[in-house]
Amino acid sequence: MKIAFIGAGYVGLVSAVGYALAGNDSVCIEIDERKIAQINGGKAPIYEGGLDDALLKLTRDGKLLATSDYNGIASAQAIFICVGTPSAQDGSIDLRYIEDSCAKIASILPKMKGYPIVVVKSTVIPGTTSGLVKGILEKGSKLRAGRDFGLAMMPEFLREGTALADFKHPDRIVIGTMDEKTRKVLMGLHSKFPGEKLIVSPSAAEMIKYASNSFLATKISFVNQLALLCEKTGIDVDDVARGMGLDNRIAMPFLRAGPGFGGSCFPKDVRALMHFSGKEGVEPTILESVMLVNSLQPLWLIGAAQEKMPLKGKTICILGLAFKPDTDDVRESPAIPVISQLLKMGCKVLAYDPKGMANFKKLFPKLDYANSMDDALKGADACMIITDWKEFKKPIAHYERLMKNPLILDSRRILDPKTAITASYISLGRGIA
Ligand code: UGA
Repeated sequence: MKIAFIGAGYVGLVSAVGYALAGNDSVCIEIDERKIAQINGGKAPIYEGGLDDALLKLTRDGKLLATSDYNGIASAQAIFICVGTPSAQDGSIDLRYIEDSCAKIASILPKMKGYPIVVVKSTVIPGTTSGLVKGILEKGSKLRAGRDFGLAMMPEFLREGTALADFKHPDRIVIGTMDEKTRKVLMGLHSKFPGEKLIVSPSAAEMIKYASNSFLATKISFVNQLALLCEKTGIDVDDVARGMGLDNRIAMPFLRAGPGFGGSCFPKDVRALMHFSGKEGVEPTILESVMLVNSLQPLWLIGAAQEKMPLKGKTICILGLAFKPDTDDVRESPAIPVISQLLKMGCKVLAYDPKGMANFKKLFPKLDYANSMDDALKGADACMIITDWKEFKKPIAHYERLMKNPLILDSRRILDPKTAITASYISLGRGIA
């Protein structure tokens, strides 16, 4: 099947690669010429494990192509809309890229053969596909959804860092459509993928995406608050999480306490669901608490350090700027509030991240960045671990050798307290070793 992807951002590109690897032909429609050149040269514009290799092979084999020309979709059988839906000021989502791409698709739809299918992959609030999207497509093309072309909403559940593996092994595939022909085509396209296929209405599909991300964020805020309580009472939060997670009804994933969730999805999606809920007259009480806990959580690092020494004028080493390991993405990273607060308090900050420094420099151009973890540690009065990169998992004695004053605050509990000789090692949810 030939599939067009509108937007070669993270979702669009990974999906284009994933479907092409499954034997389809992918064409990415992208406005950014620099991205187009990179993709056609077999290089991913984002850092994502395995993507470069796959892209190189697919572009060489002619199975994947990027272009800015919307006419590239005319010969496709399905069009996946994968444009961004950024947060607006009030927490709602900004639909301008969806509107724009739908208007362009509408102008091409009449030229397409057979029964083309338009699939919304972007995260949109319930009602968007059967309302705004359908409206623009029908008005612009003078065709009817369900009669002349198919319409569906299929949320994506890929995680940055493991996106290609997630694509190949989904837990479930949600197909939101009211139209039998569309259902058949999309079931056929996904017949070789594992995971349960769930057929629901487009609005339910839209809600499943927000509900899933918001529920995972709730799990994290729950365990994060529990971690603070465990720490005060001398209990190891990981023991508690394991004990809870072994109950199938609760399940282990997303019970790892840390400095709070970040990234381009959880914060944005929880805010959007809160906004939508409020608009519909349902007070989003749980979600408000989830966000409140998340805004306070990164500051644990500062509070715990302050209990040991006054921070003004001290040199603080920050390990980890990406919102999670194996990505260069720093959007809504807990490192942002931590570093902002340290700078306000008059600290000297030296930061290091294996992949995220280039992106972080765009937010904090004047910050001091180290070339390696060891350089960042040299002479520091305290070290704060924010991201659980593998390379930070060293014996605490290694930290001690380099730091001036070995005070280590570990918000991810990645170091082994038994490897400390003289250091003051404090880990979130476990307290002082
Ligand atoms: C998340 C979802 O996991 C995907 O299913 C979804 O498709 C994606 O959002 C999206 O909507 O596009 P992602 O943002 O890539 O994926 O990252 P996650 O691995 O889910 O981590 C999110 C944040 O939660 C990170 O800051 C991470 O450090 C934090 N986290 C995660 C914890 O603090 N504890 C945990 O136990 C798990």
